[in-house]
Amino acid sequence: MTDSAPGRNPLRGRRVALGVTGSIAAYKAVAIASSLTQQGALVDVVMTPEATRLVQPLSFQAITHRPVAWDMFELLAATEIGHVSIGHGADLLVVAPATAHSIAKLALGLADDMLGTTALATLAPGLIAPAMETNMWLHPATQGHLATLRARGWTVVEPESGHLASGASGEGRLAPPEMIVDVAKHLLAQGGDLSGWRVIVTAGGTREPIDPVRYVSNRSSGKMGYAAAEAARDRGAVVTLITTTGQQPPAGITTVDVEQATKMRDAVVAAFAEIDVLVMAAAVADYAPIEIAPDKIKKSGSSMLLELALTPDILGEVAGLGSNGQRPLIVGFAAETENLVENARAKLARKRLDLIVANDVSQPGGVFASDANKVTMIRSDGTSIDLPLLPKIDVAHALWDEVLAARRAGRGR
Ligand SMILES: Cc1cc2nc3c(=O)[nH]c(=O)nc-3n(C[C@H](O)[C@H](O)[C@H](O)COP(=O)(O)O)c2cc1C
Repeated sequence: MTDSAPGRNPLRGRRVALGVTGSIAAYKAVAIASSLTQQGALVDVVMTPEATRLVQPLSFQAITHRPVAWDMFELLAATEIGHVSIGHGADLLVVAPATAHSIAKLALGLADDMLGTTALATLAPGLIAPAMETNMWLHPATQGHLATLRARGWTVVEPESGHLASGASGEGRLAPPEMIVDVAKHLLAQGGDLSGWRVIVTAGGTREPIDPVRYVSNRSSGKMGYAAAEAARDRGAVVTLITTTGQQPPAGITTVDVEQATKMRDAVVAAFAEIDVLVMAAAVADYAPIEIAPDKIKKSGSSMLLELALTPDILGEVAGLGSNGQRPLIVGFAAETENLVENARAKLARKRLDLIVANDVSQPGGVFASDANKVTMIRSDGTSIDLPLLPKIDVAHALWDEVLAARRAGRGR
């Protein structure tokens, strides 16, 4: 998963109250506190007294560079923070790991410890990541309390199946810290400059089947599309990713898995009426085998001919579904090995795009699997911007800056 550009990361400068409870997984909260802090959040750790028996508060203090709260009757004297001040100041409350006991207390609104008072005093959204032994997790009491919290607006990051501290294997292991941090980012992205926008991003190279085991494809990794989707998510958009890669997207992004160009076309067209922006970062095959053999083709003879036919021109088709003002903003990508800018300009005009991102794929080392990209963006009025070699997430943010500017200039619907 990519990390957001520092200045655009929804965690930067935000106050996160991190509740840590008495689970054996409490040590993993150190990694959560560390990641949140590294990404620019101000993290106030609130521990239950039982959590302090499993992990030293000093570990959190050393990582967050901020005082850690666990005894509300000691707070005023020691750190000048009161029992509700962390809750008042928080932009987000994360409880990870959450024990069965603390889940019950939060559902009931009990306030006999610092976490309880913080949770009641805050108006910030809440994220809770349970961790416990399987039967405790599956118990109707635990599930009932979580249902109460969900109904109250909490986001629950469910535990995974796997090895548990008891030595057994089953459901109840804390979700990975990076997943919990990513969900925190998603929750903090609400209110960003793309809030209220519905966007579709396509990603990856299409796979055009030859027979049940072989296909024709290209070198696209999908990384640029995933970065475009993540950047839009981090700026508050509602994002659907139509992808051929099968990879898990960042939190909060809906995926539609497709393989072939025809299926990608169907997915794009089905959603087109509902969206504000389409970013076609996928590398769609131009040609696909005319016939798909029902069984694996056997080796025979010294050569073989594969007959291909044109695939649907997705961009051309959707660009024709309405004129500017009646259709979403459309961003295309052009991957070229020669005459990059001329070819991209021609594609921009031919497909009536609002923006095209031109990639020189002849660069040494190639851009496909890389985390960095050097692109030229060409606007609908023909003006262009050459970006230096940048991480793909930064290219993605530059793309969204241009989309916003185009929208403000009256393009799109
Ligand atoms: C070593 C140890 C590990 C524990 N791990 C968990 C756990 O992973 N999940 C859980 O719900 N309870 C666990 N417990 C039980 C809780 O610590 C206990 O219910 C405690 O009262 C929770 O308090 P708190 O929720 O206020 O932190 C564990 C207890 C011990 C001694």
